[in-house]
Amino acid sequence: MTLRTVIRGVGSYLPARIVTNAELAAKVDTTDEWITERTGIRERHVAADGEFTSDLAIAAAERALKAGGIDGSQLDLIVVATATPDNTFPATAAKVQARLARPGVPSFDIQAVCSGFVYALATVDNFVRAGQAKTALVIGAETFSRILDWNDRTTCVLFGDGAGAVVVTAEQGSGTGSDRGILSTHLHSDGRQHDMLLVDGGPSTTQTTGHVRMKGKEVFRHAVVNLAEAVNEALAANSLTSQDLDWLVPHQANRRILDSTAQKLGIDPAKVVVTVDRHANTSAASIPLALDAAVSDGRIKPGHLVLMEAMGGGFTWGSALARM
Ligand code: UT7
Repeated sequence: MTLRTVIRGVGSYLPARIVTNAELAAKVDTTDEWITERTGIRERHVAADGEFTSDLAIAAAERALKAGGIDGSQLDLIVVATATPDNTFPATAAKVQARLARPGVPSFDIQAVCSGFVYALATVDNFVRAGQAKTALVIGAETFSRILDWNDRTTCVLFGDGAGAVVVTAEQGSGTGSDRGILSTHLHSDGRQHDMLLVDGGPSTTQTTGHVRMKGKEVFRHAVVNLAEAVNEALAANSLTSQDLDWLVPHQANRRILDSTAQKLGIDPAKVVVTVDRHANTSAASIPLALDAAVSDGRIKPGHLVLMEAMGGGFTWGSALARM
């Protein structure tokens, strides 16, 4: 017997305001054609004034709890993955805890940028398997619109705001791959690539929030290699091949990265969940947003084998294999 971290409910939230490529093309030197061709993005959601990362996180978490039939009073751990917290501190997770959980329940943020959700899921899985949590929320929530340089066409067209969440519970499994729950997680980082993708500000350096800066081409090149590696690592650890997967739920940065990763791994494109066209890159929120889209429309069903993978600033990258 072994303890498994089972995903019981999935939820997400997108701010009401949709910004199309055409709207951006009216503000910066870009075109709908360029954005669509190079990234697959058609539109993104942008948070309203006064709508914070914590608001998005709470809305997504409430939906995940409802979907899982779990009451907030049952929670004993809350982890929020975000690179755009409400404040430098305290953690955005504390606001979620105050709203949804009993007083005293531990909560903290994880900062691994676009890989944040995979890092958070791996962390919570370790808490669960160590017997330190039974019912937990894992949330990815971002308001990247607040850290974009809206005059920089090379970055401002790429990102969007949103949040996604899963509620997980500890369940006894047999220890085999037929168990429901997280089967394995795989995390990596390479800080030598710090300057490839960063926000050029922070409390300790400039005392400003800063803006996203990216060497897009180099990041793209690393992404295709690292993501394929992370997928292969998860498959090898579970003695599986890509044919065994029901779904690949990748971080949504660029349609071309999704396509070339799938092609490199021999995964049928029909098994890849794609939301980048509607959500753009929502960093830590993109995997749970995509997961929720495919669970809600009935594509992902209980028992399906789902591989999640992401890569982001740091660089950080990783994967998580779960049976729903
Ligand atoms: O989530 C974390 C991981 N992030 C990623 O994985 C992002 C990875 N990178 C990418 O997705 C792509 O590299 C981008 C979408 C960022 C850029 O696409 P690209 O095909 O690599 O284009 P590029 O940067 O090589 O730029 C090609 C041309 C340049 O013009 P010149 O130098 O050829 O004259 C750019 O100045 O496109 C120009 N350009 C634009 N043109 C119109 C760059 N951004 C834009 C724009 N509109 N928004």
